[in-house]
Amino acid sequence: MGTTRGKILTFANPKGGVGKSTLSCLITAMLEWSNKYDMVQLIDADKQGSSVSLLQRICKNVPCSHYPISYEYDKLNLILLSQLMENTRMKQGNVLVIDTPARPGQEGIELFTKSHAIIVPVSNTMAELPPTLEFVKKIDKIKERFQKIHPHIVIIPNKIHNNRKHLDEFVKYFDNLDVVIGPPIHDSSFIRKVYLKNYELERIERETIFNDLIKVMEFLNRYVMNEELDEIYRIDSKYERSKNLSLIK
Ligand SMILES: Nc1ncnc2c1ncn2[C@@H]1O[C@H](COP(=O)(O)OP(=O)(O)OP(=O)(O)O)[C@@H](O)[C@H]1O
Ligand SMILES: [Mg+2]
Repeated sequence: MGTTRGKILTFANPKGGVGKSTLSCLITAMLEWSNKYDMVQLIDADKQGSSVSLLQRICKNVPCSHYPISYEYDKLNLILLSQLMENTRMKQGNVLVIDTPARPGQEGIELFTKSHAIIVPVSNTMAELPPTLEFVKKIDKIKERFQKIHPHIVIIPNKIHNNRKHLDEFVKYFDNLDVVIGPPIHDSSFIRKVYLKNYELERIERETIFNDLIKVMEFLNRYVMNEELDEIYRIDSKYERSKNLSLIK
């Protein structure tokens, strides 16, 4: 399996509508279907709670709880979520996926940095790229302040049209930042409709978009779950990171 400790994957981007909920549910379902992990669960930290119902329709047997962390809730959910993250980290073969709200607030962002990886979906539009860049810089500053290699920042180009040039421009946008760019997910009419009630999600494996999702899964498995990124950083010894690695691993 290659996982030493439990892993926390947090889907985050303060910009709304980038695909956090959709992708966190689909990836959670695929992690479960892979049968590689002892326990996969999803936490929906958005007050709307849309992931709870979406995941239920994709994959019924995954535990999924709703811990809204927006400013109007008291701090209890932040504390509970933090404890759950700690518990997951201690258990080998456990995976916790967290779907986060738009505009999560500073305390929320600081909590996300306790993840093994922050997965940031973003399309190549000027509506989504600038706020995403600001967010990535903020996370990177926190990592630098504490001299940590975690969380890895994994950008997932989402809603991409079939044009290679667009993707190259996109990759250039994040140049010089300490991020990894995962495989793109194309704009899909199938995904656009996932929230519709009674929409037939069982057909997903027959959809072309499923190939994109498989590539993202393979990427996450290799670099995050099997810790290849940790290894790369260890070789680079960024922030003399080998010391810090032992904290999270
Ligand atoms: N690859 C894609 N192709 C087509 N539509 C997509 C894709 N990814 C997401 N969408 C659509 O974009 C919309 C927003 O997605 P989603 O709700 O997952 O975003 P979000 O980041 O969770 O938003 P919020 O910040 O409001 O929670 C949804 O209608 C979803 O179906
Ligand atoms: Mg959402």
